[in-house]
Amino acid sequence: MCMSIASTTTTSLLLIMESSSVLLFSLVSLLVLSELVQQSEARAFFVFGDSLVDSGNNNYLATTARADSPPYGIDYPTHRPTGRFSNGLNIPDIISERIGEEPTLPYLSPELQGERLFVGANFASAGIGILNDTGIQFLNIIRINQQLGYFQQYQERVSSLIGPDETQRLVNQALFLITLGGNDFVNNYYLVPFSARSREFSLPDYVQYIISEYKKILARLYDLGARRVLVTGTGPLGCVPTELALRSPNGECAAELQRAANLFNPQLEQVLNELNSEAGSDVFVTANAFRMHMDFISNPQAYGFVTSKVACCGQGAYNGVGLCTIASNLCPNRDIYAFWDAFHPTERANRIIVSRFVTGSSEYMSPMNLSTIMALDART
Ligand SMILES: *[C@@H]1O[C@H](CO)[C@@H](O)[C@H](O)[C@H]1NC(C)=O
Ligand SMILES: *[C@@H]1O[C@H](CO)[C@@H](O)[C@H](O)[C@H]1NC(C)=O
Repeated sequence: MCMSIASTTTTSLLLIMESSSVLLFSLVSLLVLSELVQQSEARAFFVFGDSLVDSGNNNYLATTARADSPPYGIDYPTHRPTGRFSNGLNIPDIISERIGEEPTLPYLSPELQGERLFVGANFASAGIGILNDTGIQFLNIIRINQQLGYFQQYQERVSSLIGPDETQRLVNQALFLITLGGNDFVNNYYLVPFSARSREFSLPDYVQYIISEYKKILARLYDLGARRVLVTGTGPLGCVPTELALRSPNGECAAELQRAANLFNPQLEQVLNELNSEAGSDVFVTANAFRMHMDFISNPQAYGFVTSKVACCGQGAYNGVGLCTIASNLCPNRDIYAFWDAFHPTERANRIIVSRFVTGSSEYMSPMNLSTIMALDART
């Protein structure tokens, strides 16, 4: 891909040289350069993680974890499936909207070329977790180490366009989002009774282990140049329609998965505080996804939802059994459901979540929210 950009540039430069004077050529190249620099003034956005933030990378992979057929995308501007695990926009799309950028493309998209690279990129892949053995049942997905490897490759590609210094500036000034951890419970420790990990670790020991691995991942992200990273804790795993269907005879959030989230989230915040002290600045920002979800799960009517238990698309108890497909039940109005499918929120719920990112108090966003980040970074 780098080769083709380089050769296109060479061809157009040759054309310019042939058809115009040397003076015109230097004018044109000056204009091109300053345009590139101006574009890198806009803040880039990079996304890492799992299906909550995947914008379509899995479309390009041989995996069963995919959202590329209807009714996924039914409320997307094109009304077509895109690979987003949502009826419409997902959390990264709405963050892009709020920071005034166009949505970042999936890293594997062939459209991610040339100037579009300066907007950032989305490396997320549905099904992955902190651990390499999380989501193995989905076969070929982009595990977190590979997502970081792709981010390195991205920087080399951008570097070949604007040089290493401008690339580093673009990365240092960018906004990052990383969402990991939920699958290490639902698609690993609790995937089957007596899973390998649950025989190996008690729940508290498992949480400690995955948190220590997560710390290494975040440290590597810092080493790769990230300086403003929104890190989401896990949502209330026991309250998603699939877990209600599997583990909740009375419709209450499944206690064991809630316990897992309640062990994981405070330790994650602790690790982010440690990393920030090591860096001597507020690089990592905790987004309390658990609390953001619980607001509308415990009081759906207050947020305009008719239910927070039943998924819009699915079948069986709570529409929480199996996948969302063209043959599933589908609610006519997605705006009054908190959950789109058995695991993932609707666009409307995602909008509520992102508005907490932007203006939430310190109980939601710590040490600061996105509007504070934007104001701070605009000044430096
Ligand atoms: C996961 O795999 C990568 C290589 O693909 C390796 O570098 C890393 O150490 C592995 N992580 C764990 C926790 O085993
Ligand atoms: C979050 O954003 C609002 C502005 O919308 C601001 O008043 C508030 O102080 C911020 N809170 C934190 C903890 O940064």
